[in-house]
Amino acid sequence: MGNMSTLPPGPAEPPAVQTLRWLLRPISFLESCRRRFGDAFSVRFLGFGSPMVMVSHPDAIRALYSVREHGLPPGRSVALLPIVGPRSLLLLEGREHLARRRLMLPPFHGERMRAYESIVRDAVARDLAGWPTGRPFAIHPHMQAITLDVILRAVFGVTDAARRARLAERLGSLLAHSASAGLQFGVLLARRLGGPDPLARLEAITREIDALLAAEIAERRADPREDILSMLVTARFEDGSAMDDGEVRDQLMTLLLAGHETTATALAWTFDLLLRHPHVHERLLAEVDAGEETYLRAVIAESLRLRPVVPLAGRRLSAELRTDGVVLPPGTDVTPAIWLAHTRADRYPEPFAFRPERFLERSPSTYAWVPFGGGVRRCVGAAFAEMEMRVALAEILRRRTLSPASAAPERVARRNVTFSPRGGTRVVAQPRRHQRLTGR
Ligand code: HEM
Repeated sequence: MGNMSTLPPGPAEPPAVQTLRWLLRPISFLESCRRRFGDAFSVRFLGFGSPMVMVSHPDAIRALYSVREHGLPPGRSVALLPIVGPRSLLLLEGREHLARRRLMLPPFHGERMRAYESIVRDAVARDLAGWPTGRPFAIHPHMQAITLDVILRAVFGVTDAARRARLAERLGSLLAHSASAGLQFGVLLARRLGGPDPLARLEAITREIDALLAAEIAERRADPREDILSMLVTARFEDGSAMDDGEVRDQLMTLLLAGHETTATALAWTFDLLLRHPHVHERLLAEVDAGEETYLRAVIAESLRLRPVVPLAGRRLSAELRTDGVVLPPGTDVTPAIWLAHTRADRYPEPFAFRPERFLERSPSTYAWVPFGGGVRRCVGAAFAEMEMRVALAEILRRRTLSPASAAPERVARRNVTFSPRGGTRVVAQPRRHQRLTGR
């Protein structure tokens, strides 16, 4: 307990109350902590023995992410382990983590991304065929279908249509089951009280998925192709060995879990913001029609700033962390509160305004813009996600005229590890002929 005294202050409510506020009203919880305690504060979540320190000053985030040796905070494995498996890049630490990361980074290198653009364009075209015309619908599930299709083709390389449909269906069901706040609360409660694990019922689905993936892995070992799975089975560690089938499976599920919902949600938020800012929408349409990408990139950067999909990307300190006014002992769990970092008035004038222009003037700064985390665990798929968002947004805007289905902007809900639009971003779509957006 001696170390506790050096942690920054935080809310005094019991952990169950703090956890519920975090799960149900994350933004107002974060805002109230910022108001009461400032840049750094300590939060207590149910089922965890020690507090989680949240930081939001870019210097503190830099200090945290610059040290390779920090470990993972304990929370990550609670929700992820049953799905991604023990050798997942998301869950390993230290040398084991670095060795996998070296293997998994090259297929996601920026230059390779052009090769996947046509896969995204095709996935969008297929999904657009099923969009209703002239009546409201939630766009988020469509973004999920698109990003799942993209992962199955670009990452898993599944070419057999029947197998792809089966995998999409089973994976969709696994992800939906694991997403609810109720389940997360149940998992935390079971950890605390030692009851049956609510994740156990996902096991049957997982087994079926594993069998389908085993078939894909075997085929790619025999006959490697252009997909990321082929690169994973042919990649070699420094000692010349390769990942075995079980591990390849874990990494595939990791890429799915890390890359599917996140990108779909980021796209849904981008539409929510765009449709409520007609001037931005209109300018983007003009640029997209002209084949320009600069404003499109700024829109995506601004959307990821104002609606960061992954709210926390923490570490367990391997050594003392010292930054302005905070001295945290080794063993402390520390995370950037990404939403707070992104809405600092000292870094972003009018922090709550959706203004992509701010990123035309200068690119996002490394530690004040952290939607993909940072340092040695920064998102492997960041270039992939940005490519996918660019191509999907441009393609949809070229083919549909979109308007918001209601006047109120979406509220933030937690879905699995993400901040997600509560109502799924409801829109009305019309085929786009040559009409221009009126800007109303
Ligand atoms: C907008 C979409 C995305 C967002 C916001 C996002 C965000 C993040 C964040 C915050 C982390 C944790 C970083 C940290 O701990 O410092 C992460 C890790 C990761 N992401 Fe993403 N991600 C996105 C898309 C993707 C995609 C498309 C893929 C792959 C297909 C992917 C694969 C991964 C992997 C494998 C990790 C673990 C990296 C490690 O632990 O070394 N992500 N992502």
